[in-house]
Parts: sequence; C-alpha cells; structure tokens
Amino acid sequence: MTAEQRVLITGVAGFGGSNLARALLNLGYSVTGLDITPPGHANLLSNELSMPKFRYVWKSVQDIQPGDLEGHSTIVHLAAQADAPLAFESPRYTVLQNIEGMIALLEAVRRTESVSKFMFAGSGNEIGRAAYLPIDEAHPLTPHNPYAFSKAAAEMALETWRLAYGVPSIVVRTGVVIGPNMRREVFIFKWLWNVLHGKSLVVEGGRQTRDLAFIDDVVRAWILAIQAPPEEVVGQKFFVGSGQEYSIDDLARMCRDAIGANVPIEHVGYRPGEEGHREAFSVEKARRVLGYAPQVSPREAIKKTAEWVRTLL
Ligand SMILES: NC(=O)c1ccc[n+]([C@@H]2O[C@H](COP(=O)([O-])OP(=O)(O)OC[C@H]3O[C@@H](n4cnc5c(N)ncnc54)[C@H](O)[C@@H]3O)[C@@H](O)[C@H]2O)c1
Repeated sequence: MTAEQRVLITGVAGFGGSNLARALLNLGYSVTGLDITPPGHANLLSNELSMPKFRYVWKSVQDIQPGDLEGHSTIVHLAAQADAPLAFESPRYTVLQNIEGMIALLEAVRRTESVSKFMFAGSGNEIGRAAYLPIDEAHPLTPHNPYAFSKAAAEMALETWRLAYGVPSIVVRTGVVIGPNMRREVFIFKWLWNVLHGKSLVVEGGRQTRDLAFIDDVVRAWILAIQAPPEEVVGQKFFVGSGQEYSIDDLARMCRDAIGANVPIEHVGYRPGEEGHREAFSVEKARRVLGYAPQVSPREAIKKTAEWVRTLL
C-alpha cells in the first residue's frame, strides 16, 4: 500500500468523518481515523472499526505529532467544535478548540514528508453578510458569530502556513449539511423530530437564507478533491453546496411536508448576527476543477433525512 492510498481523517467519529471514512474504504483506500470519542462510543463507525484497512486513533488533534501522520498522503481535517449554538454559550472553548487544533495539525503536517494534500472543511458561515450572490471563492470573510469566527480564523491559519511553509492546503466550504446520522443539534433535525412527534416547529428568525447540501454530495466533492492531481487543487478554495437559496421559513415548511404533519410553525427572534443573512454558493469552480455537480436538491435532501429520522422512533 502506497501513501497515495492512505488518508487520515480527523473527527472521523462525527457525521462527515464517518461518511467519508466509509466511502473511502469502499473505494479501497486505507483510512486512519482520529477522534477524541472513545472507540466504544464511536457508534457511527460500528462496521468500520473492525475492518483491516481502518485504524482508529483515540487522541485529540491538539496532541497530534508528525509520527501520527507519516505514511499518509492526504489529511482531511474535520475535527471541530462544530455546533454554532454551543459557540454562543462557549465562545472561548470553541475558538480555542478550533484554532488550537488547526495549529497543532499544521505544525505536524509541515514536518511530515508524505503529506501532499491537507484538506479543511470550511463553513459557508465564515462569509457572514454576503456582499453579492451567488457567493464565490473571491468573497471576503466577515464572520457574524463566534463559530464562524473560529472557522475563519482556522482557515486563515491554514493559508498562513501554506504561504510560510508550503503546507499543501485545500479548503472545501459547505453550508448546512444534512442526511442520515447528522448532528441532532442542527435545526433541520430538531424540526423533523418535533414534527414527527406532533410538536410545533420553532423557527429562529425566518427570512434569512441557507444553501443546504446533502451529505452524499459533500462526500463526493471531498473525494474528488482527494483524487484530483495536486497541482489542480492545492492552494485552492472551493464552495460545495446545492447552489440554491432557500429561506429558513421555506426549509421549515419543507420539513413539515416531508413528515406530512400539519403542526404549527412558531417564530422566535433571530440568533445573534443572523438577521439579513443570505446564502447561495456558486459551485462553478468546484464544477470546473473537481467535476462536482450537486445531485440532491435541498427538498430531496430533507425528504431523505426525514426517512432516516423516522427510523429512530
Ligand atoms: N455538518 C455541517 O453542516 C457542516 C457545515 C460546514 C462545515 N462543517 C465542518 O465539517 C466538519 C465536520 O462536521 P460534522 O458535522 O461531522 O461535526 P461532528 O460534530 O459530527 O464531528 C466532529 C468530530 O470531531 C471530533 N472532535 C472534536 N474535537 C476534537 C479534537 N480536539 N480532536 C479529535 N477529534 C475531535 C468530535 O468528537 C466529532 O466526532 C467540522 O469541521 C465542521 O465545522 C460542517
């Protein structure tokens, strides 16, 4: 097995990481997954943990060493405090976690010979208030909440280490990603769960918009970047999403339709920094360079997620 076929994923026990690990193993890659989740609680990886081509490292990204990375061609950095609502309550923890993890990893990557790609999962939230739509890779970052700031700061560190040390960075930014095994703290999950239980659906704000992506589309984009010739993707940033803009009110109605229960929709105030937020990404660069094309519309993504949520009853 050459380093070419060895990928290390940080945050592998989470929603994105477990899906990416599964897809890469299916393609014949060797995968090392690193996470702070104890192996006995890595429930999203119950099948993968015993696979010969999968190795689980129970460790924080903050303590990563070059020896952990040696022999891997690609590092995919997904480990993060990824919950925007928690970041309002715990901004210092979120910022330290997301920046410190990135710096530790960058310091290890720059000392590791085998690594030819270091891919980071950025967030569309980093953009903040869009100056124009669709948002493309040239758009400036003006984060409007602590989580967005932590991701933007981590991304800036990545760019700095690329310029200073030649770290082979790739940034793939997405908006809200949904699908089976998604985090239950994300509003789409909470809405679907509430509708399923006949409870009212609580919308924070309503007129702000999102570009919603289905997990399979995002994993496909990550794999396209992993497989692309390094000279085409290293040092590049990509937006990946559906390319479609929907208001939070529209998405709430789609969740209600997907479950088919006519529960009331209640409106409460906007989250800090949310009022006026608009989001629709240009996926042109991802299409041109990676060959990415979204295959699942936001409405279809919600339907597929609703099918999974039903199975949890
Ligand atoms: N899901 C989305 O909607 C979305 C959108 C844009 C960007 N992202 C980014 O994608 C990445 C993955 O998101 P997700 O939805 O899979 O989140 P997740 O919370 O499901 O997974 C994150 C994983 O990282 C692990 N982790 C946290 N701190 C760690 C540390 N110090 N060391 C090692 N592991 C650690 C957690 O245990 C968890 O398993 C994150 O970086 C997130 O910011 C997610």
